[in-house]
Amino acid sequence: MTDAALIDKSPAWQALLQHQQTLSSTTLEKLFAQSPQRGQQFKAVAAGLYFDYSKNLLTDETLDLLNELANSAQLSAAIEELFSGADVNNTERRPALHTALRNPEPGKGEQAQRRSTMNAFADNLRRGDEHGAKGQAFRDVINLGIGGSDLGPRMIVAAFPELQAEGLRSHFAANVDSDVLKGILSQCQPETTLFLISSKSFSTLETLSNAGLARQWLRDAGFDDAQIACHFAAMTSQIEKAKDRGIKPERIFPLDEGVGGRFSLWSSIGLPIAIALGSEAFGQLLDGASAMDKHFRNTAFSDNLPVLHGLLSIWSINFNLHHSRAVLPYIHRLGELPNYLQQLTMESLGKRVTKTGQLCTYATGPVIWGSEGTNGQHSCHQLLLQGIGAVPVDFVATTKAHCEPLQHQYLLANCLAQSRALMLGKSYEQALAETRASGLNEDEATKLALHKAIPGNRGSNTLLLEEFNPKTLGALLAFYEHSVYVQSVIWQINAFDQWAVELGKTMSTAVFEALTQPASDIELDSSSQALVDHLRAPIS
Ligand code: F6P
Repeated sequence: MTDAALIDKSPAWQALLQHQQTLSSTTLEKLFAQSPQRGQQFKAVAAGLYFDYSKNLLTDETLDLLNELANSAQLSAAIEELFSGADVNNTERRPALHTALRNPEPGKGEQAQRRSTMNAFADNLRRGDEHGAKGQAFRDVINLGIGGSDLGPRMIVAAFPELQAEGLRSHFAANVDSDVLKGILSQCQPETTLFLISSKSFSTLETLSNAGLARQWLRDAGFDDAQIACHFAAMTSQIEKAKDRGIKPERIFPLDEGVGGRFSLWSSIGLPIAIALGSEAFGQLLDGASAMDKHFRNTAFSDNLPVLHGLLSIWSINFNLHHSRAVLPYIHRLGELPNYLQQLTMESLGKRVTKTGQLCTYATGPVIWGSEGTNGQHSCHQLLLQGIGAVPVDFVATTKAHCEPLQHQYLLANCLAQSRALMLGKSYEQALAETRASGLNEDEATKLALHKAIPGNRGSNTLLLEEFNPKTLGALLAFYEHSVYVQSVIWQINAFDQWAVELGKTMSTAVFEALTQPASDIELDSSSQALVDHLRAPIS
């Protein structure tokens, strides 16, 4: 590919378009009937993860063509660029350093030093050896952060409640809506509460607003500035800004500019994880991610889990025109996974211009959503099974029971049954046989059968974690990170910037001024102005 040639002009892309036409005349059910070994054939295993992708409408030829597409996009070279610290984030002229954070090289270097300082603080806190201004050990740790400074740690902490140190509670406040933090504070005592200001930029409105509320809460409890400082720590790349806000230097845990917000849980942004789970478990999380890194970097595309997942996403979006993906963890502990993946995927891949500045002439980032199984079966799966458009699904479950054995079997049975129901559906004839057998007259039976028929032929992946522990969770998250990178390379876009977020921030500053300063000369469109006028009018 030259700089000027967009990927959809490549021979491999064109061949995939043709191939999709051919394949659309068959069904998943037929493909399984033709090849009884299909379930064995289209699976890959690495780093404690079993990845079944056989329930996608694909053949060997599809994989060969996707492999060609990856070669056209020079995926191998792009993977090396990521790991070798090249400026893969070209619009900000930065590398993406998250993989360097989990490379478990013992002992030396700045990263190792930072990790051990952070671990020591976390473990001290867990032992009750970190004290507030009045000499009492901390019992509540409240993370104040949003986006990548919230979602990853929040999800991981929720995943392992049994590792939480006795008498120590973790909380997360992200939203600028003060009800969140106020709700948490109503359960805490000022003397025993530690606030973690988690913000790479140390300039995010929501986080600074919550930090202000936290400070006020301490002040209202009679704390002076020096005492308040004893109840804060910060994780940031803006050390000076943190100091200016009164954070003690020894309580500032740095991270590099080159670590993107949504990839930052492996850095000091992971401090709430180390506190809640302990430094050993945090290390295991990093080890699991590192194992997936090695697999991603060194494995042929045909057996490479993140490459396969990323290419199959491309296959779904660009060739089968499925622009949304549901992630359905059949693990209550991973209930926050869809939210986390929403930011990882949509902030990374929601782009429309290539790295060389050309407008993409093809679809890019999918809409990611989902909910935990089996809850989702009683809410959104109806649309997955019978709605007009197909939505590809990632099912996530554990092989070894993570909960009571019987209930785990129920979870697995439902998980596998849902992927089978999506694939096989229920034909009109089957539905009609049922309605006739139920004793309805022929007219009623034929009409009702229309409603009971389920189209089937809807694809899904199933990911099984061999055991639910920090290591396999680390591998799972790195798997998704790398899949996102693969997709960005094929689409020739930058996965590591997020310029659109800035526009919302700038506009909200202007609207805030219009709302709060009657003399403001901020010019708004007539809809926004009418809303502002309505909001400022006294309620009669
Ligand atoms: O949503 C935009 C974003 O920049 C994310 O990438 C980031 O995770 C979040 O804001 C929080 O940013 P910060 O850690 O700088 O407060």
